[in-house]
Amino acid sequence: EQLLQEVKGLTAQNPEELEALRIKYLSKKGAINALMADFRNVPAEQKKEVGMKLNELKNLAQERIATLKEAFDNQDNGAAELDLTRTAYPVNLGTRHPLTIVRNEIIDIFSRMGFTIADGPEVEDDWHVFSSMNFAEDHPARDMQDTFFIESHPDIILRTHTSSVQSRVMEVSQPPIRVICPGRVYRNEAISYRAHCFFHQVEGLYIDKNVSFTDLKQVLLQFAQEMFGPETKIRLRPSYFPFTEPSAEMDISCDICGGEGCPFCKYTGWVEILGCGMVDPAVLEANGIDSKVYTGYAFGMGVERITNLKYKVKDLRMFSENDTRFLEEFESAN
Ligand code: PHE
Repeated sequence: EQLLQEVKGLTAQNPEELEALRIKYLSKKGAINALMADFRNVPAEQKKEVGMKLNELKNLAQERIATLKEAFDNQDNGAAELDLTRTAYPVNLGTRHPLTIVRNEIIDIFSRMGFTIADGPEVEDDWHVFSSMNFAEDHPARDMQDTFFIESHPDIILRTHTSSVQSRVMEVSQPPIRVICPGRVYRNEAISYRAHCFFHQVEGLYIDKNVSFTDLKQVLLQFAQEMFGPETKIRLRPSYFPFTEPSAEMDISCDICGGEGCPFCKYTGWVEILGCGMVDPAVLEANGIDSKVYTGYAFGMGVERITNLKYKVKDLRMFSENDTRFLEEFESAN
């Protein structure tokens, strides 16, 4: 009876103590087995009652010790499995931004054609954005309507196009030059589904001896078909830029988005994706390249416009709102 109470209250601070208890009560030479050994001395009429008590005692002791052991095991396992270097849950894998996906694709296509990447600052000076690019002193694009400038420093502006990188490249290198310049540009425009105060361009510049408009057209056709599929057609319309002469805007055929009722081509079947032309000799000269020896072509495309077409995104504000429901639709970043 006394052992029964003892066993009910058994506790142990650690596995070693528990093991000592197990030996004390349950081992071959333990207290319970000693009682069992005495069992044959119990008078026959009490055997039933004492037998039941003994069994109860043994079961209780086994249970108690098993429970304590389980508690220690759980503690142990918990400690062993705890990895303090692990990232907290939930782990959400990021996705590549659609503009990044398309920019990388543009870079890939032109890399295969031998273009390397050039870079320039987003905060620029008037010379690289405008003057060196043959903008007249009173050209409307310099107007503060379009250009963000610093009040105390009207010469320092946010670049309005990546053409500034053309100038940056020419001033440090001589032909042959064959670069593309991906980057962000800024214009002071009202934000809508089709315009933003910042967007992205990829500029292209190729200068060498005997570069012709045919070279330009072939490279752009190759680009369009790799980007939008081998059936894609291109159309060059005469245009004007201060830094190219002649200048053109390029449209691609819009069958990719279904023709009739298409929000991108507005029923015309064509969408403009870039501006281009032969580098104006005045630009070569302003940037230290001999225009009697070299000719070149340049182009500048809008990454948002191309992404809109490729992924049928109708509102370019989606690209900068960071709505994860939109971003998660694009390929995972790993
Ligand atoms: N810089 C022009 C623009 O932003 C694009 C362009 C680049 C045109 C190079 C011709 C040559 O619209």
